[in-house]
Amino acid sequence: MQPDPAPLTARRNGPLSGVARVPGDKSISIRALILGALAVGETRVSGMLEGEDALNTAKALQTLGARLERTGEGNWSIHGVGVAGFAEPANPLDFGNSGTGCRLTLGAVAGCPITATFDGDASLRSRPMQRVLDPLRRIGARTLASAGGRLPLTLAGARDPIPIVFAPPVASAQLKSAALLAGLSAPGETVVIEAEATRDHTEKMLQHFGANIRVEVEGNGRRITLAGQPELVPLPVAVPADPSSAAFPLVAAVVVPGSELVLKGVMMNPLRSGLLTTLGEMGAAIERLDMRNEGGEEVADLRVRAGALRGVEVPAARAPTMIDEYPVLAVAAAFAEGTTVMRGLKELRVKESDRLAATAALLRGNGVAADIEGDDLIVHGRGRAPGGGTVATHMDHRIAMAAIVLGLASDKPVQIDDGTFIATSFPGFVELMRSLGAGLS
Ligand code: S3P
Repeated sequence: MQPDPAPLTARRNGPLSGVARVPGDKSISIRALILGALAVGETRVSGMLEGEDALNTAKALQTLGARLERTGEGNWSIHGVGVAGFAEPANPLDFGNSGTGCRLTLGAVAGCPITATFDGDASLRSRPMQRVLDPLRRIGARTLASAGGRLPLTLAGARDPIPIVFAPPVASAQLKSAALLAGLSAPGETVVIEAEATRDHTEKMLQHFGANIRVEVEGNGRRITLAGQPELVPLPVAVPADPSSAAFPLVAAVVVPGSELVLKGVMMNPLRSGLLTTLGEMGAAIERLDMRNEGGEEVADLRVRAGALRGVEVPAARAPTMIDEYPVLAVAAAFAEGTTVMRGLKELRVKESDRLAATAALLRGNGVAADIEGDDLIVHGRGRAPGGGTVATHMDHRIAMAAIVLGLASDKPVQIDDGTFIATSFPGFVELMRSLGAGLS
């Protein structure tokens, strides 16, 4: 059962200022849980995102036989079952809103000789799963039931998994990761050939846990070769602050006049940094301070100051490095002078909501001119936004947070219909924004 909707109103309230650390990276947290569950021995995770997506994934892994225990704030201890060692679950696995948790676990289960039912909330039930099931079927898993390639679905994992060579038809780290996690159980080499490089956290973490994995650059993409049936050896995982969560206070500080914020320890992985590149091109004043390595990732403290922005063209090739940041970039574009064209956003249609439509609607409903042409989003910035609208968030945390950022700088307040889903990726968002001076009620 879903909780009652929690409407929120964001309004102008003077400059934002202060120092903050956003929660742990969602992609890395979920991968740490899954690889910890597949390793033999104890994996200790610190800085874990304790948002609904990660917590639902943790519950599912528990149902599959791994032992997961919270030992302190952001600290988790995981005792895994070994590659291909998951036990048949007695109940369906409920991933809530989490596409990443669901798709990566589908991959991990596909290499185990068990049958499991996967389910999620209304948003996740509407998202395409066939793209993941296709490579898993080639590995030897069978889909026993699914409603048109959607959840709920029942998967019978492979008894004798086959290593495959897989070229994902779309640039998707979830799809790549599902194939690699299934390939862990297969003898021989599983190869994934990406035409465009996507976030590489699965590859890095597999390496961290001792798997034999080779990554070769091929044009704009990568050829990833994983040797199957490794013994994954647990090592501590330190989760850096999530750049996709940092994006919301970051853009808020750029567009609310007079603001200055420091965001601590934000992951700077180049396959996640497209928003920083784009905001830089728009003229935003963002400094990367104290660049350092933490837990195998570059991190920096970001110092951001408010300032004027200009419209830019964002090339389609950049999309994989900022795929989750378009709603909030579109808000920044509303406050820029001139037109911003964001190209190649087809994948936004199959996120937690149809984010292309939802982002255009959030702008238009608040007096900002926006067009969708094919797979491109065009925002006609006028240096200000009228606001005054109520935004339908469609169970999508990033639409909710982007709309709030808009309301912090628009002429009139912006309301959202439901802030509940913010907790999937950014628990404490409202409190953190308020502590920086945001007008949120
Ligand atoms: C993610 C990959 C992206 C992204 C999602 C997290 C991941 O999805 O939108 O929020 O952790 O692998 P796709 O792989 O479907 O593009």
